[in-house]
Amino acid sequence: MKTAIHADLLDFTADPGLDDPAACGVRWRADHWLLIGEDGRIVAVQPETPGDDWQRIDHRGRLLLPGFIDSHVHAPQLDVIASWGTQLLDWLQTYTFPAEARLADGAEAARCANDFLDALLAHGTTAAAVFATVHAGSADALFEGALARGMRVLTGKVLMDRHAPPDLCDDVDTALAECRALVQRWHGRGRLAYAVTPRFAATSSDAQLAMAGRLLAETPGAYLQTHVAENLDEVRWVRQIFPDARSYLDVYARHGLLGPRSVLAHGIWLDDDDRRSLAAAGAHIAFCPSSNLFLGSGLFDWRAARASGVAVSLASDVGGGTSLSMLRTLADGYKVQALAGLRLSAWALLHAATRGAAQALELGGEIGTLEPGAVADVTIWDWACGPVAKRRDALARGLHERVFAWLMLGDERNLVECRVAGKALFQRMAG
Ligand code: GUN
Ligand code: ZN
Repeated sequence: MKTAIHADLLDFTADPGLDDPAACGVRWRADHWLLIGEDGRIVAVQPETPGDDWQRIDHRGRLLLPGFIDSHVHAPQLDVIASWGTQLLDWLQTYTFPAEARLADGAEAARCANDFLDALLAHGTTAAAVFATVHAGSADALFEGALARGMRVLTGKVLMDRHAPPDLCDDVDTALAECRALVQRWHGRGRLAYAVTPRFAATSSDAQLAMAGRLLAETPGAYLQTHVAENLDEVRWVRQIFPDARSYLDVYARHGLLGPRSVLAHGIWLDDDDRRSLAAAGAHIAFCPSSNLFLGSGLFDWRAARASGVAVSLASDVGGGTSLSMLRTLADGYKVQALAGLRLSAWALLHAATRGAAQALELGGEIGTLEPGAVADVTIWDWACGPVAKRRDALARGLHERVFAWLMLGDERNLVECRVAGKALFQRMAG
């Protein structure tokens, strides 16, 4: 069925920069129709009401956006979200590793993957780069669940062959065989792509990182996702165990892990040389403000990344992060940058979670945009929920003020509908 949705449409045609509320590149089409073809792709956007051969859906007075892209999130960590009292390395040992160990069980992995993917959709996130666990079955479960929903998901089995509990460690040969089998089964199927996933430098041997580099090189279109320079104790530890590397990032660079489809989470404690090598490789940083605040990791320097030409996307990093909501994540991102004197515009934030992330992932033609030909991954939002937000919305002067207030005050309760390839996979219950 061809579907037409009537709403206020917002997306981007160019990078709006960091701090200009009057930036170009913002495309605002109030009171328009989004036309979605039978193939789940956007056909057109128009002010005129389409004919009777279209199923017409009335969301007038609501905001329609491209679905959010969460560029770094851990499926198994929904079970440890909001765990008290630790910083990164303790948090991994105390909460995260025990939760991940439970996914050795196939039924538990399937439950986790399905709950997680449904939760993403219920928060308005239609595409994500996702960490599974070290168990190949946990990656299978995510791929299977994403395929069934038609979602754009990048994931892979976590690589971890040291400095972790024995039941969460693999070894180079087994891991390589498992990764190759996963690539065979899933890479390029539907909207899935394999992401080579060494957890972080500290939990992989040199031999395993070298294997990850070979796997990446032999798999066209594959992604690389990992963590870098998140926490000062972690940085000191990595320096100890890789004494020959110039920096934490250099451990990855030496093994051929930096390229145009590499997503490095955090990057708080990088220097200018690191930023230059990220930019030269076309690798990008997933900024995870909620996680950085919650774990007390530090304040990411977005201005420095931009000055070096490093692209930045936004990510929840659940369960270090405390919400799957990209609205909450963006609001935290604003506050983190405000501490450095930078006032990000609503456009900068939204762009980094839609078109900007899509382009950084080389998926700019498919997601993050309302351009004809893109897949109709779209979300529909109420401008305000509750009396405080409603009053603020009514008082807003101009579009930027209104969108900024929505972004700061909103969360998943504002989400009315979430569509993947045109199909409504989440709809808020009436009432
Ligand atoms: N570094 C290594 N593993 C993790 C993880 O699971 N979460 C975060 N935030 N950082 C990590
Ligand atoms: Zn993470």
